[in-house]
Amino acid sequence: MNDQSKRVNDDLAAYWMPFTPNKDFKANPRMLESADGLYYKTSDGREVIDGSSGLWCCALGHNHPKVVEAIREQAGVLDYSTAFAFGHKGAFELANMLKATMPGSLDHFFFTNSGSESVDTALKIALGYHRLRGEGQRTRLIGRVGGYHGVGFGGISVGGMVNNRKFFGSLLPGVDHLPFPYDPNTMSMSRGQPEGGAHLADELENIIGLHDPSTIAAVIVEPAAGSCGVYIPPKGYLERLREITKKHGILLIFDEVITAFGRLGYASAAERFGIEPDLITTAKAINNGAVPMGAVAVQKEIYDTFMDETKAGVELFHGYTYSAHPLAVAAAIATQKAYVEEGVYENVRALEGYFEDMVHDLAEAETVTDARNLGFMSALTFAHKDSTPMKRAGEIFQRSYENGLKVRMSGDHIAIAPPLNISKSDIDKIGEIMRKTINEVG
Ligand SMILES: Cc1ncc(COP(=O)(O)O)c(C=O)c1O
Repeated sequence: MNDQSKRVNDDLAAYWMPFTPNKDFKANPRMLESADGLYYKTSDGREVIDGSSGLWCCALGHNHPKVVEAIREQAGVLDYSTAFAFGHKGAFELANMLKATMPGSLDHFFFTNSGSESVDTALKIALGYHRLRGEGQRTRLIGRVGGYHGVGFGGISVGGMVNNRKFFGSLLPGVDHLPFPYDPNTMSMSRGQPEGGAHLADELENIIGLHDPSTIAAVIVEPAAGSCGVYIPPKGYLERLREITKKHGILLIFDEVITAFGRLGYASAAERFGIEPDLITTAKAINNGAVPMGAVAVQKEIYDTFMDETKAGVELFHGYTYSAHPLAVAAAIATQKAYVEEGVYENVRALEGYFEDMVHDLAEAETVTDARNLGFMSALTFAHKDSTPMKRAGEIFQRSYENGLKVRMSGDHIAIAPPLNISKSDIDKIGEIMRKTINEVG
């Protein structure tokens, strides 16, 4: 290492990067300097297609003029307002806008600053709801193997990714997990929703039987799983979960931090699949990732229970200093308007077949063992290289970046999830770079 690179890398030491192999990164940094539309520009002046929408959040691409302008304007008018016992107009306007996007009676919104906070908020609302209606013994929470629900203690407890859990003690008590909803023998290389896996939801009856339904507060699942490598729910699976939870008075939470606001061509996966859960957690694309923000959509009946059963004072002892932050709200209002004005969800529906073909053409390579997709959400699974897990996927991740495409790696999976307003020719470009990369890595 020469003196110059040592000095540069010393400058990188103080920042402890999240979910990153810090030593590898600091030895070989990937630095992004600016962005516009579908492209990032790197510090060495290269253009890189953002094939992962930032981290599933930049649905409109980067620096969308309407979002940028809304933030700029808001910053000069009201930079901050506490949400505890004070309000500002935008927060109420946004809640009303979101209400129009969510199915059925999911018509109240609690604002957070991230997906993790949305998850912990939803779990707390579920527990509080049961207690207020005289069923305080319902304290158990059911998650799923492979689930990702952020990094709070609630989220990692119901989550099912072992590395995110194993270092952190005993987690929340009274949590159980559904099995992973995937059978490699019947579902690999599926286009859209796999057939024949609805029975994988039946394990919920066994878990409920084991604990007794009267002890269970909520079941939380990602309707389409993202972080564990993009797994699309088999046909009938979510319907079965809804049926079973309803039968036993258990709340169903859809964690839509990735899927809400267009990823599957609709405002929510709930809408796409025609299922109404009791709570929906969102974040990311709510405001194009421009300012940290999340929101929990809550059924009217749940909200009304808090209002009716609390005789006076605060109904929910929960909230964040930055809940409904004016800059985040301004970005969200502009983003939500752009989704409608620019036909963004319609674009996903129109092009998802074209996107699917691109993904499954790539899957014909010998080194790809599986591919899954729905809407603008997809992943390829790569065979181990030199019998080493994640080696080939790691090389694909790095080489595709060098070739001008940023993707997301998760274990042996490479997720491709571009912004939602892209064109056929953008999809072609992503496919070309990925094909070249797969060939080069071998
Ligand atoms: C389904 C799901 N839930 C929760 C989270 C956590 O969100 P955040 O990183 O904003 O805390 C994520 C993040 O990717 C997610 O995919």
